Amino acid sequence: MLCCSFQIMLAQQIHSPSKDITVNFSLTSQGEPTYKILYKNKDVIKSSKLGVSLKGKTSLIDDFMMVGTEENTVNETWQPVLGEQFSIRNLYNEKRFHLNQKGTNKKLDIVFKVYDEGVAFRYEFPLENTVEYFIISDENTEFNLTGNHKTFWIPGDYDSQEYVYNETKLSEIDNSKLDLGNGISLKSIQSDYRVQSPLMMKSSDGLYINIFEAAVVNYPVMHLDVDTKMFALSSSLVPNAIGDKAYLRTPSHTPWRTIMVSDDARKIVASKMILNLNEPSEIKDTSWIKPMKYIGIWWEMHVGKSTWDYAGSQNAQNAGTGRMIPSGKHGATTENTKHYIDFAAKHGFDGVLVEGWNVGWEDWFGKWKEDVFDFATPYPDFDIEEVRNYAKSKGVKMIMHHETSGSVANYERHLDRAFELMQKYNYPAVKSGYVGKIIPRGEFHDGQTMVNHFNFVAQRAADYQIMVNSHESVRPTGYSRTYPNYIAAEAARGNEFNAWSNGNPPEHETILPFTRLLGGPMDYTPGIFETKMNIYDSNKKELVHTTLAKQLALYVTLYSPLQMAADLPENYEKYLDAFQFIKDVPLDWQESIYLEAEPGDYLTVVRKDKNSENWFLGTITDENARSTEIKLDFLAKGKKYKATIYQDGKDADWENNPKSYKITTKTVSRKSTLNLNLAKGGGTAISFQLMN
Ligand code: NOJ
Ligand code: CA
Repeated sequence: MLCCSFQIMLAQQIHSPSKDITVNFSLTSQGEPTYKILYKNKDVIKSSKLGVSLKGKTSLIDDFMMVGTEENTVNETWQPVLGEQFSIRNLYNEKRFHLNQKGTNKKLDIVFKVYDEGVAFRYEFPLENTVEYFIISDENTEFNLTGNHKTFWIPGDYDSQEYVYNETKLSEIDNSKLDLGNGISLKSIQSDYRVQSPLMMKSSDGLYINIFEAAVVNYPVMHLDVDTKMFALSSSLVPNAIGDKAYLRTPSHTPWRTIMVSDDARKIVASKMILNLNEPSEIKDTSWIKPMKYIGIWWEMHVGKSTWDYAGSQNAQNAGTGRMIPSGKHGATTENTKHYIDFAAKHGFDGVLVEGWNVGWEDWFGKWKEDVFDFATPYPDFDIEEVRNYAKSKGVKMIMHHETSGSVANYERHLDRAFELMQKYNYPAVKSGYVGKIIPRGEFHDGQTMVNHFNFVAQRAADYQIMVNSHESVRPTGYSRTYPNYIAAEAARGNEFNAWSNGNPPEHETILPFTRLLGGPMDYTPGIFETKMNIYDSNKKELVHTTLAKQLALYVTLYSPLQMAADLPENYEKYLDAFQFIKDVPLDWQESIYLEAEPGDYLTVVRKDKNSENWFLGTITDENARSTEIKLDFLAKGKKYKATIYQDGKDADWENNPKSYKITTKTVSRKSTLNLNLAKGGGTAISFQLMN
């Protein structure tokens, strides 16, 4: 038969339950698997190839014939332990293509799940006669886009996602043009045209498209190579120390590759597709997994008031002098910890984080040193026993801190003893950190080895009934469904960058829900009231790029069951009326409704508390002031609520007058509307308390 290379030999269709999305799957005349995606009959992904290259073996990219298909529809609901909503619906049409490579007689399955919000697919390597071990040298997944979309991107760095998002056309993506003086200490950008996922885009005809992955387990992170002329993306797996991508054996599979699409941006931020694509909880008794609102000995180090190390020689950007002679600037003292515990108890916080409690901060990063911390030896001025007893007497939980400085080999050696210590001293949660180059040397934060490490820590922590919040880790891809004790991660540019770098521009928090947050909760650490760092040192120019009211709204717009009130107790004492919102806002929800959303511009969400009839609203804007009218028709019929509105003052703006705010109360019902005015870089937070 005559053919050209892209002649379609066989086309199979899969529709979303709503029928808005159609996937066409086919083999070319060379037996190459290809797919395309349409949304409401418009192309979203043009014909794109699929395949996997193997090291030392015939690659699984062509010469296939289809030997069978299987179809299935799933419609189920499940209850997350903690979440944005009480119950999650998992509804999709699935089709599995059984392929056989003619020359080698090897099998490959490609499985599609088509949801109303998007498409997921993965490669599966079935068990044939015997178990087979193989090395993936490349994944050849293409996403051929239809035009020069507006794109929110960060560079495809193997070691960090702590970047500001760039908002440009696809054709303008170029890492060589970035200003890299951005406070990120370890950068590993290896190509000018490689970006990270989740990659959020908007087409000129108003389609919102998001490319990401779900359930990254025993596999490296997928970044995306960009052809800026053809508007084509292709998978780029993060290598290990010797350049290989993944070591697998049959039976196994890759993570899900996801393409979300909608003409309504709210559907993207509200989607639970990434969580749905992960396996159900492996933890049977989850009663010990609880939301935590916390304060901590933390911001004071970031603003330079105190230090992590005992000698008091370091700041957020250096590793100290290696001395152990105290200078009186050490933050994690028993006395200071008690002060924080008192504040937590007085204001009803669940926990207190203490960083810098343990020996090792003398030369903790930049040396690529293997044995830094043992996660067990407190500094002489931190009495862990006394702290345990004091916290217990006040009904406050302690949050452990394990900074690994990237020395994962060392951390894994000490992990069980570190968790035993936590059990002994009543620490139900740990914040871990991975600042610096990884040991085993040559590994990257986003490679298969590290993916396995982060997942392993969550699993091992579950054995000890410990909750985990990782910083500088792989960005989450929904694994908190499988290990719900993995309650949060940083894995994006957090509020801390505002303390000691050029910071996060006002649009940053309007982009995170479309990118990082799709994979799981973020420990962003909102709640900074004193937004200008010159109050700590008149030479400092750094500032938080939001108003005070927007810092409150972030507790609602950035979902997490673990939320810090990040500012210093003495700063909260000055604004106790505004602080009340942080005290009141719940962290676990019955229902969430995204009312307004536009990436890079604004976001409005309302959420109903899981444990009361109260609702909470958060709305934020970027650098532009914004007025909006909100209908309160989400409130229960026939009920009245006391709305407490925390909003920007008339003269507020993030740069010149961030602390201008106004608090008003009003009786409202579902028939009411509220007109809200947000300042430049501003926001509004509202609590709706049931009255009758
Ligand atoms: C970076 C983390 O994001 C931050 O929260 C922590 O305080 C420092 N590393 C030190 O571990
Ligand atoms: Ca960080």
